[in-house]
Amino acid sequence: MSRILVIGAAAYQVPAIQRIRELGHEAYCVDYKEGQPGFAYADSHRIIDVRDKEGCLKYAQELGIDGVLTWGATLTLETASYVASAMALPTLHMETARIATNKYLIRKRLTEKGLNVGGEVFAIMGKEDVENHEYRVPFVVKPCDGSGSKGVRIVIDEKDVKAAIQYAFDGARNGEIYVEPYVEGKEFSVEAFVCNGEVFVYSIVKTNFEWKGIYPEYTQTTYLGISKAMETAIEEEVKKAVDALNVTFGPINFDLIISDVNGKPYIIDVGIRNGQNLLASHIVPYSRGVDELNNSISLCLGHNIDANPKKKEYISSRLLIYPPGEIKEIKPYKHLIGQNHIVDIILRKKSGDLLPRYQTKSDICGWVLTSGSTPEDALRYSNDAWELLKEYIIIKHV
Ligand SMILES: Nc1ncnc2c1ncn2[C@@H]1O[C@H](COP(=O)(O)OP(=O)(O)OP(=O)(O)O)[C@@H](O)[C@H]1O
Ligand SMILES: [Mg+2]
Repeated sequence: MSRILVIGAAAYQVPAIQRIRELGHEAYCVDYKEGQPGFAYADSHRIIDVRDKEGCLKYAQELGIDGVLTWGATLTLETASYVASAMALPTLHMETARIATNKYLIRKRLTEKGLNVGGEVFAIMGKEDVENHEYRVPFVVKPCDGSGSKGVRIVIDEKDVKAAIQYAFDGARNGEIYVEPYVEGKEFSVEAFVCNGEVFVYSIVKTNFEWKGIYPEYTQTTYLGISKAMETAIEEEVKKAVDALNVTFGPINFDLIISDVNGKPYIIDVGIRNGQNLLASHIVPYSRGVDELNNSISLCLGHNIDANPKKKEYISSRLLIYPPGEIKEIKPYKHLIGQNHIVDIILRKKSGDLLPRYQTKSDICGWVLTSGSTPEDALRYSNDAWELLKEYIIIKHV
C-alpha cells in the first residue's frame, strides 16, 4: 500500500482520489476550501490552495507520500511537479508544468519548434498593446489562460476585429490574449499518453454537434473520417508537439484541425492533462484496452507500466440530451448493456430532475457508448441507442 497526494479535490480530481483507494492505496488531497467534493473520498485532506507549492510540499513531507498526482486539470500541475521534484518522485518537468496553463506560451513553443501553424502567432499584453500589431483576417483571438471556449472568437471580417479583441479581453482573467491564424477544416480531439520515452496515440475522435431545434445531437466517435495516411500524419504532428513541450509523463490532449486547403493537421489547442467528456475514462479504455488513470497512478509511484494499446475497437459516445422537461421515471436499463452494440450507459440524472435546455455538460442525462466494426457503424449504433433510451428515460416535456 502506498500513500498518494492528489493536488486538487474538485470534481475533476474525484475519479483519481476514488481510484487510488480502489487500487488499495491511501489517498490524500488538498484544495482551497472546505466542502470540495474530493475530500469525501480521501483518507484525509488539508485546506491548502492548489497553487501554494510550499504549503503542499510541507503537507506531503508530513505524510511521507510515495507519489503525487493531479488529474483533469492543468492549474494543479505546477504544484504537483514542485512537490514531486522536491521529494525525488516521478513527475513532469517543472518548466512544462509551468507553461501548461498558458495557451499562448504553448502555441508559441509549437510554432518555434516548426509545427504546422500557417501564419503568425502573437500575444497582446494588455489593451495598451492592441495598436502595436497588425491584424490580418481571417484569424482567431483567444485569452492566454482560457478554457471552455471562453473568449475565443474567429474573425473573418475586418469590421469585427475590434469587437473580437474586446470579447477575448473580457474572457481573459490575466488580461492577456493572443492571435493565431484561422484554419478552415475538420476538427478532431486527440488523446495521447507519454511514458518511458514513448508517445502512445490512443484516440483520434471526431465530434459531431448539430442543433436539432431545441436540443443538439452530440456524438464523439473514434477515427471517424480518418484515413490511415491521415492517422499517420496526425500521430507524427502530435509526437512533434510532445517533444517540443518536453512532456515526458502522463496524458496529453489536443484539439486539431485538418485543413481543407492542404490536408495537413494543425494543432490549435493543447491540454497537458487527460481528455474530458469520457475520453480518458471510457472511450480510450473501451476502444484501446488501456486505462490512463490506473497507469498514471502507477507512474507517479515509479512503477513500471505497459502503456501499449491492447486493441482497436471503434467506439461512439452519444450524449443523452433530449428536449427540456422533467424526468418522470427512469426504467431499469442496465440489461441493455451488451445488447444492440451498447458497451456502456452512464446516467447522471434521476427521477424528478429537471432538464433545462442544453447549455453545458451538466445539463445532460448522461452518455451511451456503442462499438462497431467501423466508425460509421459505431456512430449509427449510438444514434439508435439514444433513440432506444427514450423509452427508458421518461421525460415530461415543457
Ligand atoms: N486556429 C483556429 N482555427 C479554426 N478554429 C479554431 C482555431 N482555434 C480555435 N478554433 C475553434 O474554437 C474552439 C475553441 O478554441 P480552443 O480549443 O483554443 O479554446 P478552449 O478554451 O480550449 O475551448 P475548449 O475547452 O472548447 O477546447 C476550437 O475547438 C475550434 O472549434
Ligand atoms: Mg480546446
